[in-house]
Formats: sequence, C-alpha cells, structure tokens
Amino acid sequence: MTIEEIAQKLDGPFAMIAADGALALAELDLAADASVLDVGTGAGSFAIFLAARGFDVLTGEPATDTTHYAGKDWAANAEKAGVADRIRFEAFDASRMPFETGRFDAIFFFGVLHHIDESVRGAVFREVQRTLKDGGAVVFFEPRRETLEKLWTTDPGHPEAADPSAYLPDAAFAETRLQGAMMDIFIYRKAG
Ligand SMILES: C[S@@+](CC[C@H](N)C(=O)[O-])C[C@H]1O[C@@H](n2cnc3c(N)ncnc32)[C@H](O)[C@@H]1O
Repeated sequence: MTIEEIAQKLDGPFAMIAADGALALAELDLAADASVLDVGTGAGSFAIFLAARGFDVLTGEPATDTTHYAGKDWAANAEKAGVADRIRFEAFDASRMPFETGRFDAIFFFGVLHHIDESVRGAVFREVQRTLKDGGAVVFFEPRRETLEKLWTTDPGHPEAADPSAYLPDAAFAETRLQGAMMDIFIYRKAG
C-alpha cells in the first residue's frame, strides 16, 4: 500500500505525519536493513509510516502509562495499513531502555518528548546515546505553534513543545534542525 492509500484508510493526520517523516528520512539516508526504534507508540502512526517505508520497526511505550495518548489500538491501525508484520511492540520506559548498548541505527520520538516528565528527559537522552550505534541518529519531532493551537482546541491541557537541545548529554552530537508541516524536527547524530 502506498502512503497515500494508508492515509485514506487511517483517521487523523497520517499524510502530514508521513510528510514530516519523509523529511527526516531524506536527511538520515538509512540502509534498508537499519535497526530502528520508534519511542512512544501511541496510535502507531509513526511506526506505520516507518514500516510502510520498508523498515522492520520496534516500538513501545511504558506499560504503566494510562494517559489519553497511550494504550491505543495501534495494532488495528497497522493491520488496516497492511504493515502489521513489520512492527513489533515491546513495553518500555525511554529513561530505562531494556536494549543493549549500540543496538540502533536510528531512534525516533514523534510527538513524544513533551509527554515525558521533564525530570527524566536528561536520562532519556543518555539512554539514546547508549543504545545508538556510533554514527547513528536520534530524531525528535516536536509540535509547531500552529499544531499546538489546533491540539489545544480539543485538549487544553496538552503540554508545550520541548526543546531537545536542553537535555543533550555532554558527548558530541551534531545537530540538524528542519521545519516540517506539522512538527519541528531535531536530528542529532552521534559521533561515528
Ligand atoms: C502523542 S503519543 C505519540 C504519538 C505516536 N508516536 C504516533 O505516531 O501515533 C505520546 C506517547 O509518548 C509515550 N510516552 C510517554 N512517556 C514515555 C516514556 N517515559 N517512555 C516511552 N514512551 C513514553 C506515551 O505512552 C505515548 O505513547
């Protein structure tokens, strides 16, 4: 199924999510067999986008998260999109990842960092640094002002966007910022 066909099958802004995701993938230029992690499954939109682009995706969120954006039926969405066989779910907390050091080529946080408690965002970035391969990259997608204003009409308590650079660990990461249609995109490449 193409991205356009998936967008017709799924509710919500999948086409915009995919457009912003495509900007990041163009910058990363990942190999087809890259090891990718999608943090914060939610409704599964970003994991579905990655799977539709041909990646085998590991995705997860904390099993204890009972907030509005967690515990969604992402698997039903993945079935509708025809990519369920390329997505594996494992519950985890990004501040204590149960993954080995140097496992991932790329880690994605689509609309997630601002939902993570500020007190553990530094720990999250340290876990990203540990679990990325040398030369690997992490991508944070955080909502632009216009996106937040739309979200606040239905969810007035939705948090403000986060600035990932405030939580960078000491080690050298090269930063690239892009502006998507829906999200600001922050890419950090670990020294290789
Ligand atoms: C708005 S949803 C993300 C949308 C999702 N990426 C998508 O494409 O549909 C926010 C997600 O952040 C997750 N989250 C919050 N705190 C987290 C943590 N400490 N570790 C991992 N995920 C977390 C929530 O469980 C939820 O899945």
